Amino acid sequence: MNKALRKAVIAGNWKMNKTPCEARELLEAIKPLVQNAKCDVVACVPFVDLQTALDATAGSNIGIGAENCHWEASGAYTGEISAPMLKAMSVPYVIIGHSERRTYFGETDVTVNKRVRAALDNGLTVILCVGEYLEQREQGITGEVVALQTKIALQGVSADELKRVIIAYEPVWAIGTGKTATAEQANEVCALIRSTVAGLYSWAAANALTIQYGGSMNAQNAAELLDQPDVDGGLIGGASLKPADFAEIVKAASR
Ligand code: 13P
Repeated sequence: MNKALRKAVIAGNWKMNKTPCEARELLEAIKPLVQNAKCDVVACVPFVDLQTALDATAGSNIGIGAENCHWEASGAYTGEISAPMLKAMSVPYVIIGHSERRTYFGETDVTVNKRVRAALDNGLTVILCVGEYLEQREQGITGEVVALQTKIALQGVSADELKRVIIAYEPVWAIGTGKTATAEQANEVCALIRSTVAGLYSWAAANALTIQYGGSMNAQNAAELLDQPDVDGGLIGGASLKPADFAEIVKAASR
């Protein structure tokens, strides 16, 4: 089965939550609960928590990620963090193109592509987020929107570099709303992303790509979503801040 060809990855996206002290506490609580995971486990944390998070998880099976990075290596970009800075800290993962960046901070498909390129150039593994707004779903253009976002984000990315890309399908209407996509809706769009990637590269590359679902995934609905043939993991917001719930999701991905 194709699902066996790829790694299941459960990643927390902490968003703008937790001070360094609180980050250490949360990771200390999560660590023992996920130590036997049969999937990859990641926590993407605010920039100021990165060093604490790396220290707290050293020697564990939890990988640490940032929530964004700029496309330039350095320069006059007040408030931004570059990919070489993350590399210098040995941060392995970075989320790029989250819908909250696109909606509130003017991120476009073109800037997402530039950030993806910079992250890959610096050895990072990218969690690339795509997803439609409710209005677009209602207009019946979900497939077109998600395919376009995927194609532009991956411009200039080689097949070899694609091995360090995870795509997260996050329907914007499901994020932080408690409204989850049905397992069928999630699988349908994840499958469409996979066939888009197959068109850009090959089916071998597409079948090896980890595609996550994100949007109100929780301890209750994770198993059904993760059982879908094209859903290889989850990008978890709210539930990643609750150790028992996050661990339950990791367990569901470990089956
Ligand atoms: P919630 O799980 O809180 O809906 O957030 C999902 C998300 O945006 C993960 O990146």
